[in-house]
Amino acid sequence: MSSTSQDELKKAVAKAAVDYIEPKLDNHSIVGVGTGSTANYFIDYLAEISAKFDGAVASSEASAERLKAHGIPVYDLNGVDELAVYVDGADETNPRLELIKGGGAALTREKIVAAVADEFICIADGSKWVDTLGNFPLPVEVIPMARAHVARQLVKLGGDPVHRHGVITDNGNEIIDVHNLKISNPKELETAINQIVGVVCNGLFANRPADVLLIGRQGGVEKITA
Ligand code: 5RP
Repeated sequence: MSSTSQDELKKAVAKAAVDYIEPKLDNHSIVGVGTGSTANYFIDYLAEISAKFDGAVASSEASAERLKAHGIPVYDLNGVDELAVYVDGADETNPRLELIKGGGAALTREKIVAAVADEFICIADGSKWVDTLGNFPLPVEVIPMARAHVARQLVKLGGDPVHRHGVITDNGNEIIDVHNLKISNPKELETAINQIVGVVCNGLFANRPADVLLIGRQGGVEKITA
């Protein structure tokens, strides 16, 4: 029996997300759009219904470029009063729909757009499902001059910080990936890391988890609500 590839699962959840949001959209709607390979498939399917909404807000320059290439207007978040939906991928999700994000270094803008959206829809292939977050190294965006200081504080929190060499975020900052964290309380750790001076944002989405998860498994796309 043939199994569905990870890429096909990403496409399936991207299409499922477009089907899920389509009835919620009208010609005034602005769609929040995430970053990464799953989000890229979402953008491509979203373009097929571009007549049904006004435009998008993007969580990265890369996604903005892809949206514009499809002719979808991209708005500055500051000029948008309301975002009905935000659709984005994840690096890990637990059953409470708490996430690790930031594998693509777009975590800060992703968290900002998620904060504004009425509904956050996470799209992920089945490999992202975990009982306990932390196998995927936790990305932390830092002000460049604070990198060593932040790394020392992350060691005190029990992690092994590794500088993601050569990566500068869309905000001009750097990324530390924190390995070997045991994330038994994601909300508490998210808050604790945010307290370190020099941290811009961390990739735990626990205080604002996803509202809906569309997860692609061999048997099909499953919808899980928080
Ligand atoms: C980018 C992200 C992505 O959503 C995450 O890395 C998942 O990426 P992909 O869809 O390529 O597996 O958080 O910062």
